[in-house]
Amino acid sequence: MNPDLGKLQPYPFEKLRQLYADVRPDPKYAPINLSIGEPKHPTPEFIRQTLADNLDGLSAYPATAGSESLRHAIADWLQIRYDLPKIDALSQVLPVNGSREALFAIAQTVIDRSRDPVVVCPNPFYQIYEGAALLASATPYYVNACRENGFEIDYGEVPESVWQRVQLLYCCSPSNPTGKVMSMEQWRKLFELSDRYGFVIVSDECYSELYLDEKKPPLGGLEAANRLGRTGFPRLLVFSSLSKRSNVPGMRSGFVAGDAKLLRQFLLYRTYHGSAMSPSVQEASEAAWRDETHVVENRRLYREKFAAARELVAKPLETEMPEGGFYLWIRTPIDDARFAQGLYEAYNVSVLPGSYLAREAHGVNPGAHYIRVALVAPLKECIEGLKRLNAYAQSL
Ligand SMILES: Cc1ncc(COP(=O)(O)O)c(C=O)c1O
Repeated sequence: MNPDLGKLQPYPFEKLRQLYADVRPDPKYAPINLSIGEPKHPTPEFIRQTLADNLDGLSAYPATAGSESLRHAIADWLQIRYDLPKIDALSQVLPVNGSREALFAIAQTVIDRSRDPVVVCPNPFYQIYEGAALLASATPYYVNACRENGFEIDYGEVPESVWQRVQLLYCCSPSNPTGKVMSMEQWRKLFELSDRYGFVIVSDECYSELYLDEKKPPLGGLEAANRLGRTGFPRLLVFSSLSKRSNVPGMRSGFVAGDAKLLRQFLLYRTYHGSAMSPSVQEASEAAWRDETHVVENRRLYREKFAAARELVAKPLETEMPEGGFYLWIRTPIDDARFAQGLYEAYNVSVLPGSYLAREAHGVNPGAHYIRVALVAPLKECIEGLKRLNAYAQSL
């Protein structure tokens, strides 16, 4: 058996199941689940229809690189969304089966196991980064996102001896769970470090299309690189997804874009790994990337929920509205796991303890004393859930 499998940590939802195992929630309350980050708004009808209209695609093996027309649709979307000069659809874009599998696979492509590799991860973080690093025989190095820094990652904390070994760095903007968006200044620093030490930047941007101010879409990695004059996006790969943007988490559709040299190697890896996208899904994905109307409506639905949350989350709870994504990262007056357990017992509301999304690093677990609340349920349910959350906090 692969010994690296033994290094994998239990998934946060497994820990949550254990936390709730012996708890009987008050039956007076209907269950409300705010713990899981699964989009719940309805899938737009035109995407369903395009999928149904293209079932003939099931009778053909797809190419791993995806169809040219899908790659062109993605390249066009990128150019418009990030005000980029021409993106070469055939060398700078690769469709993937959701960003999760690709975020994992890229580590297996990039890491040279023979050189004592380190992978830098934000902390708290999306679990796949850590698992990908461990299964590529790399050592994860966590950089904390703390309240004191406004949840910004401070790469200045990473010692020189670590940078020397870094081969890959994951960043997530807008961040799950903090909702923080990376600034131009942060990108500038990150590019400087990548130039100096030669590591690959993997930018997870799967929440990029969920933001509160219609006039302020989050800055993207390709956009930052372009504005800084980095022709060809050296050592940068951006990972995006339709799951949240278009409410199709079950379709498994996303893309990777950026450095053409890296993408060529990634395609080679993927050809052997066997991760081509179904032709039917490719057609539906193309339709989705070519439409923005449904995305504007999607944002409107989230905006309503965050507007309600702004009113409802009150002392002793503390939170700020996220710059992107659909999570509230709420500071708890007591230990986060105890809070989550007590809330479940008293009010039948599930939320994710922040410490389950982070590791103890540099003397702290930066997720401790936080809960992650996903505003994915219908508005009424979110409001009811937040009211109960507040009532529980008041009762402590
Ligand atoms: C930060 C982050 N990245 C990536 C993903 C994977 O999304 P998908 O595989 O649906 O594109 C998720 C899903 O929840 C996520 O939270």
